Amino acid sequence: MSHPTPTAPAETGERRHFLAWVSSFALAGSAIISALANFVFLKPRATYGAPSRFSIGRPDAFPSGARIAIEQRRICVAREGNQVAVISTTCTHLGCIIGVADTGFACPCHGSRYDQDGNVTAGPAPSPLPWYQVKLAPNGDLEVDTNIQIKPGTYLNI
Ligand code: FES
Repeated sequence: MSHPTPTAPAETGERRHFLAWVSSFALAGSAIISALANFVFLKPRATYGAPSRFSIGRPDAFPSGARIAIEQRRICVAREGNQVAVISTTCTHLGCIIGVADTGFACPCHGSRYDQDGNVTAGPAPSPLPWYQVKLAPNGDLEVDTNIQIKPGTYLNI
């Protein structure tokens, strides 16, 4: 008949020390993983569209008499002397991007036409093109806000 050998006090202390170290390590690891999971959970996953307020560069980029369309922003920058205006190039019929034409604007989708100020001259478009607020930013750039519509014919003096 064999009897279990008694454990020496030094050996028991080492085992306790080892188990305490392993459990501390496991606890710290799970705390880090939990913190990372919370961070990933709390971080917004929403995707946002294009900002409504943006810079279009220096006024010098738009020579007097020019009507320059910026297609990715869906706007047209019109400059007359020292006055600048920004007109929407989104057709008010079904939202196609319209192009700058000799007489104003022309929609390639269903043939709507607008004059230089964005007033409807032909086609199914129900309303004129909106004009957007444009300001001179402190750094000298022109800044457009497509959330703010202004009265058509209102130019910014630069
Ligand atoms: S979307 Fe421009 S005319 Fe229909």
